[in-house]
Amino acid sequence: MTISLNTLAARGAQVLALTALAASMAAAQTPGKLKVGLMLPYTGTFAALGTAIENGFRQHVTELGGKIAGREVEYFKVDDESDPSKATDNVNKLIKRDQVDVLIGSVHSGVAMAMAKSAKESGTLLIVPNAGADAVTGAMCANNIFRSSFSNWQPGYAMGEVMAKKGIKKVVTITWKYAAGDESVRGFKESFEKGGGTVVKELNLPFPGVEFQGLLTEIAAAKPDAVFTFFAGGGAVKFVKDYSAAGLKKSIPLYGSGFLTDGNLEAQGEAADGLFTALHYADSLDTKRDNAFRLNYAKTYRLQPDVYAVQGYDAAQMLAIGLNATKGDASKSAEISAALRKVTIDSPRGPFTISKAHNPVQDFYLRQAGAKENKKVGIASAKLEDPARGCKL
Ligand code: PHB
Repeated sequence: MTISLNTLAARGAQVLALTALAASMAAAQTPGKLKVGLMLPYTGTFAALGTAIENGFRQHVTELGGKIAGREVEYFKVDDESDPSKATDNVNKLIKRDQVDVLIGSVHSGVAMAMAKSAKESGTLLIVPNAGADAVTGAMCANNIFRSSFSNWQPGYAMGEVMAKKGIKKVVTITWKYAAGDESVRGFKESFEKGGGTVVKELNLPFPGVEFQGLLTEIAAAKPDAVFTFFAGGGAVKFVKDYSAAGLKKSIPLYGSGFLTDGNLEAQGEAADGLFTALHYADSLDTKRDNAFRLNYAKTYRLQPDVYAVQGYDAAQMLAIGLNATKGDASKSAEISAALRKVTIDSPRGPFTISKAHNPVQDFYLRQAGAKENKKVGIASAKLEDPARGCKL
C-alpha cells in the first residue's frame, strides 16, 4: 500500500490536534493552586490576634496535607494594620493584583466591612475569622460571605443575660468608639435591660486609644453596681491593669466580652484574676477535640492557643467543607452556602452550625480568669443565634 505524503501530513496534524486537546482537558481537570489571601493585622494593638488566626488556619491546612479539595494551598498576605482607611486598597491588592480565590480576614470590624463590600462587588469568596461587625452577616449578608467567629451582638447579649440574672441593676459601659464597641454594648443593653437592669452611662474613647484615666474617674464618681466592657488585644491588657491599679476592681466588679482576657492573661497578671467574661471559647473545655487541637497548636507554634487561633482553624474547616462541595471551585457561592448551612462544624470550641445569614450559632461560655486560664464556669447562653437584622438571604 502506498500512502501519499499529503495523507501522512494530514494524519500528523490530526495527532497533534488530539494531543493538544487531551492536554487542555487535563489542565481543566486539575485546577491550579488554591490562592488564599490572608488580610490580617500583623502590627498594632491586634497584631497577636492576626498571628493566632493565621497559625490556626495553617494548622488545619497542614492536617489536610496542604491541600483543600485537591488543590495545593498557596498563601498571599497583607498587613491591614487594623486601619479601615487603607482597607479597600489593601483588599484590592489581593483581589485584583494576586487574583486570590478566597479572602480570609480580618480582625477589626471597620476593615471587615470594607472587605465585605469589595467581596460582594467582585464575587470573591470571603470568610471572616474574627471581626464581629453585625452588618457582615446582617444588612451586607451575601451568598459568598461567611464568618467563622461571632457577631458583636452575641457575646454582649450573652453577658447581659448573666448580669441581669445575678440581680445587677445599674451598669456603666466603657469601650472604643467604633462598630465593635458600639455593637457589643448594644447587644449587652438589649438583654440586660430586658432582664430588668439599666445602663446609666455609656463611656467611649477613640480606637485604639488607651488614655483611660479620665474615664475611670467618671466610673468611680457614678458608683454603678458593675461595669461592662469591650476591649481586645493590647488595649485590653492596659485597661485591665489600669482598672485594677485605680482601685476599682474591689469596689465595682468588671465584666466583659471574653476578648478582654483571651490571649491576654500572661500580660495582665494578677489584675485579671477573678474577672468574669462571656465567649464562645474557654481554656478548660477538656474535650477530646479541644485537647488534641491545643496540644498540636502548642507543639507547632510554642504558644498557647486562644479564641483567635480557633476561629482561624475553623475558617479553614469551613473553606474545606465549602470547596469539597464544588470540587474546588470557589466561585460557586450558592453551592458553598448550601453545603455550609447544612453541616455541624466539629470545632475545638464545641460543635456549631452556620445560620441562614452565615454566622455561627453557638454556645457562649461564662468564664472566670485565674491561674493564667479563662476557665469555663458555666453556659452564659446556649446555641445563641445572631438576629441577622437586615439580612435578606
Ligand atoms: C472587632 O473589631 O470586631 C473585634 C476586634 C477584636 C476582637 C473582637 C472584635 O477581639
